[in-house]
Amino acid sequence: MIRAGVVGWPVGHSLSPKLHGYWLEKYSIDGEYVKIPVDPGDFEAGIRALAGRGFSGFNVTVPHKEAAFGLMDEVDSAAKRLRAVNTVTVRPDGGLHGANTDGFGFAENLKAGLGRPALPEGPALVIGAGGAARAVVGALMDEGADHIRLANRTAERAERLAAELGGPISIVDWDRRDGELADVALVVNCTSLGMAGSPPLEFSLSGLAPDAVVTDIVYAPLETPLLAAARARGHRTVDGLGMLLHQGRPGFERWFGVAPEVDGRLRARMVEALGQ
Ligand SMILES: NC(=O)c1ccc[n+]([C@@H]2O[C@H](COP(=O)([O-])OP(=O)(O)OC[C@H]3O[C@@H](n4cnc5c(N)ncnc54)[C@H](OP(=O)(O)O)[C@@H]3O)[C@@H](O)[C@H]2O)c1
Repeated sequence: MIRAGVVGWPVGHSLSPKLHGYWLEKYSIDGEYVKIPVDPGDFEAGIRALAGRGFSGFNVTVPHKEAAFGLMDEVDSAAKRLRAVNTVTVRPDGGLHGANTDGFGFAENLKAGLGRPALPEGPALVIGAGGAARAVVGALMDEGADHIRLANRTAERAERLAAELGGPISIVDWDRRDGELADVALVVNCTSLGMAGSPPLEFSLSGLAPDAVVTDIVYAPLETPLLAAARARGHRTVDGLGMLLHQGRPGFERWFGVAPEVDGRLRARMVEALGQ
């Protein structure tokens, strides 16, 4: 039996067991994927113990992603850039390999949602500069974005992100985030605004070209006020649930040996789990 799981604190809310459980069943794999609550004070001992208990690997979620980065024996380039790990694989020698698959999940979701092999061509406007925005900006750079504009309420955070990631990034004033949209090909909300229980992102789409794409990484609700407004104006929109589903693919493949697919039945099951 191959074992994997998700380490977090708390971890009860995690959707990852449903995601990996779906794939284990679909591909008839003799494996299990479990929730592993680990208190931040016990994190290092907790994850070292997992390697000893026969786990092939595990996901790492809030609040452990940065701590995990510091404990890996080896990390991939995305984890290095983000200084955060969400996917750990136990190597045959017992060492820990850390990856960050959030950016991969973002790009794969966008491509799948648009039914295109590449992201929209032209400047992208990213709103937000937290951990998820970092992954999104990194993915846009990897996908060859010609220019990324970054707007964040706390300007210093956006400036730090741009300085640390390098690349073709310019900072947009928070109060002027929807001021110059005429050439923008892609708008990405990476703030938590629009999430159930949070106020909506205030953003006027009126200056946006009709063929521009709007996406949100918030997935509860599935259709955020931003996406609803964009859809009403005829823009192509992509919701954030697929980012969560696609980010799980690399870990599943490493631990269980099968490259899993994000299919319609999986999405339906996750929408049901979200209660939407
Ligand atoms: N779809 C997925 O797979 C996926 C993956 C990761 C995250 N997410 C979602 O993405 C969102 C952000 O996650 P994160 O990890 O990046 O969080 P984070 O590091 O805490 O960053 C939060 C971001 O939201 C901004 N923000 C929060 N409240 C705001 C307000 N009232 N006005 C303006 N800006 C505000 C913050 O701006 P300041 O810097 O000014 O505080 C910051 O840019 C969450 O809703 C999370 O659930 C989705």
